[in-house]
Amino acid sequence: MTEKAKKKIAIITSGGDAPGMNAAIRSVVRTALYYKMEAFGFYGGYQGIIKNEYKKMNQRSVANIIQYGGTILKSGRSLDFMKPEFRKVAADNLKALNIDALVCIGGDGSLTGAQLLFEEQGIPYIGIPGTIDNDIADTDFTIGFDTAINTALDAIDRIRDTAASHDRLFIVEVMGHSSGFIAAAVGLAGGAEEVFVPEQPFHIEKVIKHILDSEKKGKKSSILIAAEGAKPGRAYDLAENIRKHSSLVARVCVLGHIQRGGKPSASDRILASRMGAAAVEALIKGHNQAMIGIEGAKLKVCHVPQLLKTKKHVDQQLLQLTNILSL
Ligand code: F6P
Repeated sequence: MTEKAKKKIAIITSGGDAPGMNAAIRSVVRTALYYKMEAFGFYGGYQGIIKNEYKKMNQRSVANIIQYGGTILKSGRSLDFMKPEFRKVAADNLKALNIDALVCIGGDGSLTGAQLLFEEQGIPYIGIPGTIDNDIADTDFTIGFDTAINTALDAIDRIRDTAASHDRLFIVEVMGHSSGFIAAAVGLAGGAEEVFVPEQPFHIEKVIKHILDSEKKGKKSSILIAAEGAKPGRAYDLAENIRKHSSLVARVCVLGHIQRGGKPSASDRILASRMGAAAVEALIKGHNQAMIGIEGAKLKVCHVPQLLKTKKHVDQQLLQLTNILSL
């Protein structure tokens, strides 16, 4: 980007909201103002750009939001934006405002949208990974993941209390329609007996044998963690399947959208603040089709077309360790 082309940015939060998105918005806006740029927040993700619903942001627009979950810009999954004619409407609205670049805070679907907007309409962009699923390639963590696993873990600990008191088997379903990062993390941290992830089909007979073997060794209660996209079937189907193939009765608790809300953890606030500032600085340096990622403790600029082609895999060692420790 040239010096002239650094002046105006649009910001959206898109896809499923994630705790820490507000901290990211705050950081983007304040960093942009620090560098004498103008920042426009569009409401409701891509749909807000199509409908031209925006607000010019100043220092005070992002005051006292760092501690809140959700997103002050609202979020959404725009079906219109999947059509080229609406992407043109969105681009025309951005061009009418002389927006030079878009900052998109969201998951891989949102990055795909930004990429299409650039390819078809020439709007440069930078992404900030915001999703509780942590399923974006080329970054160790996404904003919201840490809070979501702590929220889920708090619930799992409570379920363990009642499971242990009643000698019961529980299946706790966590989010993750196509990835098992939340399940793998809370499985290990919550001391689960089994973890089911979408990436890996499982055999019900083996699961039942594991539980029954554990019972023989004196284990009286067990918690199984299932990602919502685990195959075959959701938690209630799994419970039904276990009942059909054994004498075991499993109670089910679906944590659902609880995992998306709540105060962002310190880690998520710090990650979001760092990534927001890095996104603006990357734009100033001329980066485009890019996303800020983190590897180890270091931020980096990732190439989005490449990362969209890459599948991030759940760490098998986490799953194996959960298994070993559940003896
Ligand atoms: O934010 C990602 C995610 O939480 C997935 O794990 C889940 O399948 C999906 O969002 C649910 O989305 P929605 O709120 O649109 O039903």
